[in-house]
Amino acid sequence: MSDRTVRFNDLTICDTDLSREIRTAIERVVSSGWYVLGPEVEAFEEEYARAIGTRYGVGVASGTDAISLSLMALDIGAGDEVVTSPLTATFTALAISRVGARPVFADVDPETLTLSPASVEERITARTRAIVPVHLYGNACAMDALLELAETQGLVVVEDACQAHGARYRDRPLGAFGRAGAFSFYPTKNLGALGDGGFITTDDEELAATLARLRNGGQKSRYVHTEVGLNSRLDEIQAAVLRAKLPHLERWNRRRRELAGRYEEGLDETELRATGVLVRDGVLSARHLFVVRTPSRDAWMERLASRGVQTLVHYPVPVHLQPAYRELGQGEGSCPVAEEAATSILSLPLYPSMSDDDVDYVVESMRS
Ligand SMILES: Cc1ncc(COP(=O)(O)O)c(C=O)c1O
Repeated sequence: MSDRTVRFNDLTICDTDLSREIRTAIERVVSSGWYVLGPEVEAFEEEYARAIGTRYGVGVASGTDAISLSLMALDIGAGDEVVTSPLTATFTALAISRVGARPVFADVDPETLTLSPASVEERITARTRAIVPVHLYGNACAMDALLELAETQGLVVVEDACQAHGARYRDRPLGAFGRAGAFSFYPTKNLGALGDGGFITTDDEELAATLARLRNGGQKSRYVHTEVGLNSRLDEIQAAVLRAKLPHLERWNRRRRELAGRYEEGLDETELRATGVLVRDGVLSARHLFVVRTPSRDAWMERLASRGVQTLVHYPVPVHLQPAYRELGQGEGSCPVAEEAATSILSLPLYPSMSDDDVDYVVESMRS
């Protein structure tokens, strides 16, 4: 065993300026006496929508709820099918099931592991109402093809941008392409709260107003519930923390890209292969995770562990093969690329406060 440890992630706030900014923000809320859906949430909604470049933003309780509420607001529910990726956090599919719709899993592209537009097209039926592309690992899906497909088939697109804060496609932030974009502020995300939180971006004024009602129990005004909504409110402390962190997002993402580049250079002499990232003009990954592929994944995981390097797998079981989704009947073989990927992907440590030296140590551990 090695004396040295490289943690998979480190959420400790070591930057003393940031720590002070966050504590000041929390203190402001503590002394305000207003803790849920108040001025901090309103200000953050404006600031984050501006960062993504949409006209409206609605703060909610989680990324899962951001997807559910978007579908609900678009009147998608029982009897409808929603096509999404099987290589994602199962929460994407849970959000679809929650509104009563049926998740249908299309396969992923063998290079980028994001939703394959050709496979999506094959899965469209008369019941299909929406596509939920997942910008996996902070990497953009092939949005041009997916948006064109949605347009010709009369489907709505709700982007799962839960791993893609600040990532860009054609020089525009992801989350600004669909009718709605869903974000998670789970602490490990590129922009993370100190608890749960979520967000919906949209240019559609009416949709934003509907979402604002639905997240608050479907209330049009106090004690007047015009729709069966959810209790999915963002609280003031999380919004204040996110306001303190948002100005640092671009810098953190730049650092993630630097570290990912360093890994890529180092991987050259190993049998590990970095997962493909769309790198055409105007595409910028948020590098939420750095994922390599190898047929001997489990052996690599053990070997890195013996050198003190923590790794994880995102995700070891494709969603259509999860016990909760077996009953849908999309068995093994229905998404062969995602199924193979689940056996060969390995996520290496990557976070903005990681040092070059840590990356070099991981690379050296892979070479030795
Ligand atoms: C791709 C993706 N979709 C959805 C979610 C759900 O977000 P949350 O955990 O905030 O509900 C996550 C995060 O876990 C995610 O990574």
